[in-house]
Amino acid sequence: MEQSSACRHRPVGQFGESVRLIICETVSDVAESVVGIIEKVASGVASPRIGVAAGATFEPVYGLMAPCANRRVRFASASFFLLDEYLGVSDESPNSFHHFIRSRLAHRLGVSPGRVHGPNGLAPDPSAESTRYEEALLAAPIDLQLLGIGLNGHIGFNEPGSSLASRTRPVRLSRLTRRTNASHFQAPEDVPQRAITQGVGTIMRAGAIVLMATGRRKAPAVARAVEGPVSSAVPASALQLHTDTTYVLDEPAASELTFSLELRE
Ligand code: GLP
Repeated sequence: MEQSSACRHRPVGQFGESVRLIICETVSDVAESVVGIIEKVASGVASPRIGVAAGATFEPVYGLMAPCANRRVRFASASFFLLDEYLGVSDESPNSFHHFIRSRLAHRLGVSPGRVHGPNGLAPDPSAESTRYEEALLAAPIDLQLLGIGLNGHIGFNEPGSSLASRTRPVRLSRLTRRTNASHFQAPEDVPQRAITQGVGTIMRAGAIVLMATGRRKAPAVARAVEGPVSSAVPASALQLHTDTTYVLDEPAASELTFSLELRE
């Protein structure tokens, strides 16, 4: 793994090497570090299957990905799998996560739009569509799953209370999530009420997981995810039970960690 000198690499607490914590000084160091992990995974398999998160957190990562193509990491044969998609939103809408990943990631890497997979937000039967997508995800292992984190500790759109064994399914978005995501829409009331999300149990099947978080406002959720009890009240806390999880954080997002930070120096 490429290790940026501005980042400190630590196992989390006493949990052992299967859970790692990388804390970087700046957002661009965080992004470099995440790109290094993606490149390493992608260079190790012929046709990487990468689970991708939409959202502001990953924009600096995807912005750095084009140079990866120059470094001859094979992305042309990669497939990208969305974490989630709004219901009632077409793939072509600029508000869709399909559109986000196609325009900010796949296009830059020369990956054809047909290699970007996700739930169809306009499917007439969202439950059947969730089953279809879950089967596509299970057809072969996801080599690496990229995750952001919601202010309430959600991953994908698994809001607090989601079963930690949950599968891909239609969900209702919390008020906090709709308010937070409103900036991407013309008006707050335009934010969809529902989405299809990979389940927590689905996410946990990935071979490796990277959770990236930046900014002070993510600090409480990060602390609860990394150091709190494993609980459906904080869906991201399930990652503590995965055998290959890396949290990549900037200093502000890491600022409410307690015992992990004591071990840092
Ligand atoms: C959103 C998405 C997640 C995303 C997270 C953080 O609601 N469903 O996939 O990772 O919340 O978003 P952001 O990166 O914009 O803070």
